[in-house]
Order: sequence, then C-alpha cells, then structure tokens
Amino acid sequence: MKARVAILISGRGSNMAALIAAARAPDYPAEIALVLSNRADAGGLALAAAAGVPVAVVESRGRPREAFEAELQAVLEARRIGLVALAGFMRVLTEGFVRAWEGRMLNIHPSLLPAFKGLDTHRRALEAGVRLHGCTVHLVSPGVDEGPILAQAAVPVLAEDDEAALAARVLAEEHRLYPAALAWLAAGRVRLEGGRARVEAEGASGVLANPLPGPAALSTQPPRD
Ligand code: GRF
Repeated sequence: MKARVAILISGRGSNMAALIAAARAPDYPAEIALVLSNRADAGGLALAAAAGVPVAVVESRGRPREAFEAELQAVLEARRIGLVALAGFMRVLTEGFVRAWEGRMLNIHPSLLPAFKGLDTHRRALEAGVRLHGCTVHLVSPGVDEGPILAQAAVPVLAEDDEAALAARVLAEEHRLYPAALAWLAAGRVRLEGGRARVEAEGASGVLANPLPGPAALSTQPPRD
C-alpha cells in the first residue's frame, strides 16, 4: 500500500507541484492524499485542485498555536495521513506537534543546512560569498530548520548571480531532490542512527567544487593577463 502524504503549504506551491507530478508515476511509493494550507490565499491551492488533489485550509492567523494545530491534526487523522511534507509552509510548529510526527515529517529548505537556517537564504549566501549553495531535505525536529538530513543538492554560485538567479538555480534542484527524498522515506529506505539519517539509495560519486580545480586552477603560477 502506498503511503498517504499530506503536503503543507503557505504559498505558490512549486515544490508541491513537483511532488504531485512525481507521485503520478505508477511505481512511486507515495500518493498525495491532501494539500493543506494555513492560508486561504495560497496560490498552490488552485494548482493542487487543478491536479485533482483534495485540498483543505486550516487558517492559522489570529488564533493560538494549539487551536490551529489541534485542527490540523484532526484533518490529518481524518484523511488517514501517514507522512507530512512541508513545502514552503511558513508556520512554526510546536514541539508537541513535531514530536507526534517525528520520523514521518519532511521539510525542504533552500540552503545547505546547517548553513543559513531561516529566511532570505539566497541573499545571505551571496553576502557570505559562498561558492556552493543549494537545498536540503530533512526530517523535522523541534528546532526551526533542524533535523536529520536526508539529501542535499548543491549548485554553484556564479559571479554574476543576483538573488533571483541564485534562487531559480536552487529551486530547480529542489524540484528534483524533494520527490526523490519523499520516495525514499515512503519506501522505508530511511533509517535513523544516533540522530542521523541513513538513506539506502544510489550513492553520489565524485566531488563538487566551484570553481573546478582543473589543471589551470591548480597551477601555482599567477594568472596571465
Ligand atoms: C522553497 O524555496 C522551499 O525550499 C522553502 O520555501 C520555498 C517554497 O517555494 N521552504 P514553493 O512554494 O514550493 O514554490
């Protein structure tokens, strides 16, 4: 039986759309049983409905966290949800809620964690001058943007990048990485060992570097004009 997944969104839902598209494959080990937003105006709701996925809104504004989460939990239980995928869900969840879903709730974050937790990750990566940036899929622990890392994808930061260009390069990788990571979790290919996640999956090989240390880069001679 396929794992029943709820995707929690607050906004445009491009990662949600990538998960819905991936889950259409007959051999994908999860089905997207619900898209739930904490905001009625989230753009992703219309995309999900157009894709034929059941949608729900549990409004979070102007109410205590506990009341919001109690309703959220009730909806998830009513739909027999087994896994939760946070995808641009902008509401911090309480420790109690996170513990209830421990090991069964994923998040995608647009940085190579633990660098750049929080907001404005692309601007901060540019300001820091990092040469590699990227995205992370992790199991959700109570701290914000914390929890065992399942997968990461790195992209180069280019000299001419602005925030939008870098964000677009990272987002393209998010759309590849998240469906793969959700599939691993749904297929039971993720094990927790000492607070870290081990994933039985095709391994990565080689080294990521930017700039690439080719023969010219390794030369000890100063660059010629
Ligand atoms: C993504 O960059 C995701 O990593 C972050 O919020 C953004 C959501 O974008 N958590 P979208 O709604 O999936 O398009």
